[in-house]
Amino acid sequence: MSENSNGARENSMTVTELRQKFLDFFKEKGHIIIPSASLLPENDPTVLFTTAGMHPLVPYLLGHEHPLGNRLASAQKCVRTDDIEDVGDNRHLTFFEMLGNWSLGDYFKPETVAWSYEFLTSKDWLAIDPAKLFISVFEGDEDAPQDEETAQIWQSKFEMDGFAAEIGVPGRDKPAVGKKGARIYAYPKKNNWWGPAGQTGPCGPDTEMFFDTGLKHDAAFGKVCHPNCDCGRFVEIWNDVFMEYEKTADGKILPLKQKNVDTGMGLERMAAMLQGRSNVFETEVFQGIFSALSVLSGKIYGYGSDITDRSFRIIADHLRAAVFIIGDERGVAPSNTGQGYIVRRLIRRAAREALRLGIKEPITQIIAQVVIGEFGVHYRELETNRGRISKEMSQEEEKFAKTLEKGLKEFEAMSRDKLISGKEAFDLFQTYGFPLELTEELIGERGGNLDVAGFDEEFKKHQELSRTASSGAFKGGLADHSIETTKLHTATHLLHRALKNVLGEEVRQKGSNINPDRLRFDFTAPEKMTPEQIAAVEDMVNDVIRRDLPVHCEEMTPEEAKQRGASAYFEEKYGDRVSVYFIGDETEPFSVEICGGPHVARTGELGSFKILKEEAVSAGVRRIKAVVGGDEGQG
Ligand code: ALA
Repeated sequence: MSENSNGARENSMTVTELRQKFLDFFKEKGHIIIPSASLLPENDPTVLFTTAGMHPLVPYLLGHEHPLGNRLASAQKCVRTDDIEDVGDNRHLTFFEMLGNWSLGDYFKPETVAWSYEFLTSKDWLAIDPAKLFISVFEGDEDAPQDEETAQIWQSKFEMDGFAAEIGVPGRDKPAVGKKGARIYAYPKKNNWWGPAGQTGPCGPDTEMFFDTGLKHDAAFGKVCHPNCDCGRFVEIWNDVFMEYEKTADGKILPLKQKNVDTGMGLERMAAMLQGRSNVFETEVFQGIFSALSVLSGKIYGYGSDITDRSFRIIADHLRAAVFIIGDERGVAPSNTGQGYIVRRLIRRAAREALRLGIKEPITQIIAQVVIGEFGVHYRELETNRGRISKEMSQEEEKFAKTLEKGLKEFEAMSRDKLISGKEAFDLFQTYGFPLELTEELIGERGGNLDVAGFDEEFKKHQELSRTASSGAFKGGLADHSIETTKLHTATHLLHRALKNVLGEEVRQKGSNINPDRLRFDFTAPEKMTPEQIAAVEDMVNDVIRRDLPVHCEEMTPEEAKQRGASAYFEEKYGDRVSVYFIGDETEPFSVEICGGPHVARTGELGSFKILKEEAVSAGVRRIKAVVGGDEGQG
């Protein structure tokens, strides 16, 4: 066996082989292999997707008996969407597979650590050189003591193999080189405590395993590098959580009635390390997609262009995630709400990157087939749902193409004088999803110019405005508004949009009044709302709250505001410049409204939304009273 550049003694392990090895190993240790649960959690309204292997097991970690026993292992499909904007660097994935093993009140620290060490280092399994492994443990606080037991078990494991494993202080003691030196570091909750997955539930201290890639530490990050240093030398490969606590609704950390173990290993990341690759996108699972993209674009991944590489990675990640979400056994289609909205964003972001690569034809069908080919053997649901995946993805791509077409018309008008201003380029980007590169190329074809510096300026200004709006300092400011009033104000925008969505665009605001206890909203509608319509409006608003969408503000002329789809309170007169509040994604906001503010920074701050009453005011005008906040029972 030869060592590859990452020091793993086996360098040919594929993702498929690694998945199988992990499951075989834990089967040998008495675990039952459970199939991956759906990506769409069944009984948890607090999250959109399954984010960890433990997610479907929460009731059993809390003490319910699992029908298959108290030792389980799986490869679980996961989606994490908080990282969408980060995808494109070389670490983040939206969809990934998590390998995990669980003890439901059965074994605890000694077995967990022993098996992690064995699986990673034994020649029968991953055969990683122990010199390449570093460990972190919990340093202790008022909720739980320092995890000395775990540190000692690790120490004895390394020592048995002839490696010193001293306990080091982060930022002071240098990590071991070769056989001697610090190998185990203690960190606070921020690093070494996991869970709960939602607001409440099982949680506990964890011990994490890091792989030393051997990269030279970037001195800018601190004097001495340690496993949780950001420089990229150490990559976290496995997390063993000792779930012996529960976080309660009032924020207390209390002991659970059983001591559980929950572990998680990112499959793609571990495979990358074993293959001596610097990042997940260089493992074989993405190569098929990259080849297809090369054929479509005439460009090649990894040939010196960072922009090209970034686009390749975004498309590969996003379309793989979209295939798995649509093709899930409880799959959803692209839409404007909830999980469907995430799929929409994933597909549209990928389509935008395809344009950046100069690809003019549709790509989703082709890429979807590659993904299904790669994963359909293990995840049979993708094969079963092949037709649905193809149909939904290409329909969404077409819808996006239509939006772009509208943008192209705008572009034609703007480009008559052969000069695209920064503001115009920014509008094309913001409203119609035109990447700057596309606008540059188009105006270039017409022998014109684009003010790139102006675009950058607009971009920065826009970020400024979002930030100021977020901090509440924009215009009138938050100072003289109670927080409750501000929340109700944002809720009014959501209600207005939801009413239009449910009852029709012709709904018009006739008036609104807010006091700290409730909002009141008058609007035009020919008849009384049905209970179903009321429920649909409520659900839609709650969905936007749950998605925790950002709120931002921009200044523009009333004319521009109208063009960008802003609802306005028509009985009002506007000045030359108005401020416009956007709630949600920049390319497809949920709500756009001319308004002086203030608003909350993110919709999640509203907690929840409840309609108390729907009644008549006068002929053709209805009134809704509603509240926000945790207590849905009020009124
Ligand atoms: N649930 C733990 C994690 O996701 C293992 O890292």
